[in-house]
Amino acid sequence: MRHRAIFCGLFAAFAVYSSYVYTAGTETGHIAPMNDAERRGAEVFQQYNCVACHQFYGLGGYMGPDLTNVISNRGAGYARAFIMAGTAAMPNLGLATDEIDAVIAYLAFVDKTGRYPAENYDVQWTGSVAYQDDPQ
Ligand code: HEC
Repeated sequence: MRHRAIFCGLFAAFAVYSSYVYTAGTETGHIAPMNDAERRGAEVFQQYNCVACHQFYGLGGYMGPDLTNVISNRGAGYARAFIMAGTAAMPNLGLATDEIDAVIAYLAFVDKTGRYPAENYDVQWTGSVAYQDDPQ
């Protein structure tokens, strides 16, 4: 009987801790959902397979730089110039003007979702991460 009580106690602690760890910090209410232009940009980003060479939050191909915060770090005009003309290292993929507008809107949307690499964060006693400048 005592073993069952210990098991139930440990199982309840495991369940509570797991549900906390897997849900803490996953609220996205402070980011407005994608509008039509941003969604179109996400499609363009997939269609031209930009992720073959670029990353968001460090995930993707590694030929080109991470694009998570390219809009706030470098500006929309800078990003637009690369996409319009290409460089010696990045091919000019021949996007139409409306596709470029959409992909810039999408990059601006991604930029609002967070910072990469992460800055100003604390690791809490639970092992999850809390951002000091989190707008929530
Ligand atoms: C074949 C690989 C490749 C593909 C595909 C590619 N890029 Fe690039 N991109 C690069 C490389 C390499 C650079 C760095 C170029 C340089 O500095 O001359 C770059 C630079 C950029 C930059 C400037 C980033 C910075 O921080 O300087 C932006 C913005 C960008 N690419 C957007 C895109 C978008 C949007 C697409 C899809 C439509 C795309 N790229 C597809 C390779 C690629």
